[in-house]
Amino acid sequence: MWHPCTQMKDHESMPLVPIRRGHGVWLYDMNDKRYLDAVSSWWVNLFGHNHPRIKNAIKHQLDELEHVILAGFTHEPVVRLSERLSALTGLGHCFYASDGASATEIALKMSFHYWRNLGRTEKTRFVSLQNSYHGETLGALSVTDVAIFKDTYAPLLLHSEQMPSPDWRLAEKGESAEQYALRCAEALEAYMAAHHTEIAAFIIEPLVQCAAGMGMYSPVYLQMARGICNRYNVHLIADEIAVGFGRTGTMFACEQAAIKPDFICLSKGITGGYLPLSVTLCTEDIYQAFYDDSIARGFLHSHSYTGNPLACSAALATLDIFEDERVLQANRQKSVYLKRSLQQSLSELPVKNLRQIGMIAAFEVTAGRAGFQRAFYQSALERGLLLRPIGQTVYLMPPYIISESEIDWMTTEIAGLLAELPK
Ligand SMILES: Cc1ncc(COP(=O)(O)O)c(C=O)c1O
Repeated sequence: MWHPCTQMKDHESMPLVPIRRGHGVWLYDMNDKRYLDAVSSWWVNLFGHNHPRIKNAIKHQLDELEHVILAGFTHEPVVRLSERLSALTGLGHCFYASDGASATEIALKMSFHYWRNLGRTEKTRFVSLQNSYHGETLGALSVTDVAIFKDTYAPLLLHSEQMPSPDWRLAEKGESAEQYALRCAEALEAYMAAHHTEIAAFIIEPLVQCAAGMGMYSPVYLQMARGICNRYNVHLIADEIAVGFGRTGTMFACEQAAIKPDFICLSKGITGGYLPLSVTLCTEDIYQAFYDDSIARGFLHSHSYTGNPLACSAALATLDIFEDERVLQANRQKSVYLKRSLQQSLSELPVKNLRQIGMIAAFEVTAGRAGFQRAFYQSALERGLLLRPIGQTVYLMPPYIISESEIDWMTTEIAGLLAELPK
């Protein structure tokens, strides 16, 4: 086994955690020790492990059809899912893949190809935000801006330009999140004014730059970005892979700015965290630019498991739960509870920038710098808590079904961990 995002040698001194089963927010290892999954198994799980409704939907689909090629063929789960995603996002067409990075690749390629089909062959470049993260494949990595993932592969990547990030941690002293977001939008506008003729698309993680250490920003930036992209004829790609499906309090983060992107990339929570599935949705205008007698004007991208029926059935069950169980309303109350619990537990401890949007909360730890990330991860595991700090940032992104007592347990354990840190 070669594990993801891992220096394998680290496991000489840090054993892997073998998990046998999951239930609700808990993961159980081979000795039945349990761990609260405070990172939703890499931000994918929404309603807990072993959820009866999602599990049964997959079982039912398994008796009908496990998979079929999606070129030339179709099936009911993918059609029903596309109709529902289209209604939810207001974007008319769904192109499926299996992982988030593939959804990013598809959006980038589609945007470039759209302009080419219109005769705008000079529009070949992409713009993203500083500290952005859009996946690890070469195209997605080209618009990512996290040095540890990107620098090694720099000679292989497309050139892209990064705009100032509206993450309010970067604001000047005395500047509000909104004032800072507006200042960043001015920089975006100035760049677009000078370069828009060569730019195909601006790609952005709406409201939260998760891999940057949960960098949060004002929705006003999204409104400004939408206006700027419209004015300069540049596509706006919303990468809602991490923040979609209720994570920020609304079904999609873009709703909080009342904007509609040209593309939206979805994955992770789309199946409730059960099976790999991703989708890139686009506007009717984009779709029509490919609709032609010429095969070369079509979008000839494909993945073998595109639109897998089992994954689509998990996604349909996930959307049913959203509809039937008033998930967004319940999340709103739960996020208030989480905030209060964190505020109470962390007061007097060495933390700063406590922040939250919906079911994502984060703060920076100001003590215990040397080897913090790994030491904190390991100490948390010993206490039965799965956390993955990003540098000095500790974040919580638990499954939505976490109970109030589980929230209190989690924040109390975190306070205990912080209290143990060397000053
Ligand atoms: C915003 C964003 N985009 C893209 C990706 C890549 O998704 P995947 O890991 O499924 O390729 C991630 C993964 O964390 C993400 O957070």
